[in-house]
Formats: sequence, structure tokens, C-alpha cells
Amino acid sequence: NNWPVYINVHFHVVAANTSIEGGYVPQSQVDSQIEILNKDYKNTGVQFRLDNTSRTINADWFENVNPYTSEATLMKETLRRGGPETLNVYTVSFDNGYAAGLLGYATFPSDYEDEPKDDGVVIQYGTLPSGNLYPYNLGRTLTHEVGHWVGLYHTFQGGCDPETGGDEVADTPAQAVPTRGCPTFRPDTCPEQPGFDPIHNYMDYSDDVCMRGFTPGQAARFRDQIRTYRGINV
Ligand code: ARG
Ligand code: ZN
Ligand code: CA
Repeated sequence: NNWPVYINVHFHVVAANTSIEGGYVPQSQVDSQIEILNKDYKNTGVQFRLDNTSRTINADWFENVNPYTSEATLMKETLRRGGPETLNVYTVSFDNGYAAGLLGYATFPSDYEDEPKDDGVVIQYGTLPSGNLYPYNLGRTLTHEVGHWVGLYHTFQGGCDPETGGDEVADTPAQAVPTRGCPTFRPDTCPEQPGFDPIHNYMDYSDDVCMRGFTPGQAARFRDQIRTYRGINV
């Protein structure tokens, strides 16, 4: 087959000023984030290639971008590059607004047709590897958000649905609620359904250090999603 298929990445650093606290993350952090992403997607058929890093000083976007805000719309309309097959990543602080404290958010493949300019992933800059957002500073926020961008739902989506657990993936055990931290005794929030909660799955809400992988069913689903909606031949 043609594996791995490479997805081009446009990485947009949006900062308040040119200090690290202002969100001006060094290129080394961007590069190690792409490395983590590729490690986490190893053997799924998909890998990522950093095409370009753009740097924009805009304190309004840095602080006020939140899902569905005019700042987010304007930022993406201004900076986004490429078509449905191109991954655009933006780093901001989310400091102000209704979603302050958010780690990241993403659009789904099936959203592209309706809102092409909105397509992409926005993450908090402190979530990059060796960022300041412990315990979410090992780069797994981008792994998780890109999971949505390729068409995955949370493992706890739809709760204890006996068919698929609600995430439309059969090999992720059903889960009633998101996991926090990294429990030492494996939770079983859907005792009627087989399997313990998938606390090590990238699409749960565990700490970065707890997250280890996608299931084969998740990789099969996202390959299908990006073939259908992003025209990626994988
Ligand atoms: N969408 C989730 C949030 O912002 C991201 C969860 C990422 N989890 C992580 N361990 N990095 O709440
Ligand atoms: Zn999520
Ligand atoms: Ca499932």
C-alpha cells in the first residue's frame, strides 16, 4: 500500500508579543510537537509534515480566540492555508472569554464542506512539549485534537451505548464519563459492557502522561473519514 500518507501542516503561532509568556513559542517546540504527533500516529497509515510556521503578533486573537467567536473567524480567515487535506494548527492562550482554561478544540472532516475557512485545530500554547501547562504539557493535546480533525469522537461519547459506546468505534470499550488524571485502579463506568474504561486512549480526557494510543478500530475509522471528506488517499 501507500502508507504512510503525509499530511501537510501549516503551524500558526499567534502571540501577544515576542516573549515566551506572550505565546511566542520557539521553533524547537513546534518541531518537537510535530515529532510527538508522528510518534502518536505511528502505524495508523498517517504521518505529518511541517510545511510552514507562521508567526503573528496579535494580542486580541491570542487572548480572545474561543470557539465560535468573531476573533476565531477572523484569525482563521486571515491565516488558513490549503484545502481540506491540509492541517492548520493555531496556538493561542484562550485567556479571556467563555472558554478560558480550554486546552484545545477542532473541526471535524464532515464540517469542511460547510465551513472551509473554519477548518483546523486551535490549541493552548502551553500544551506544546515542555510547555507550562502541566499535566498537559507533553504534546498530547494536539494528538487529541487532530484525532477530532480526522473524524474521531471522544471514547466517552454517548456513554454506555451497547453497540459501539457512542464513538462509532467497536473496539473502544464503552465509557460513561471522561477520565481525569491517571487512575491506578482501572475504572469501569459501564459495568454492563465489556472492558474497562479506555483511560490510556488519546480520545479520553486523561493526563498527557496517561495517554498511549489509538485502537485499530479508531485508525480504520479515521482513514475512512479523511478519504471521504478530505480526499486523502489512504
Ligand atoms: N478538548 C479537550 C479540552 O480542551 C482536550 C483534552 C486534551 N487532553 C490532554 N490530556 N491533553 O478539554
Ligand atoms: Zn476532545
Ligand atoms: Ca466504542
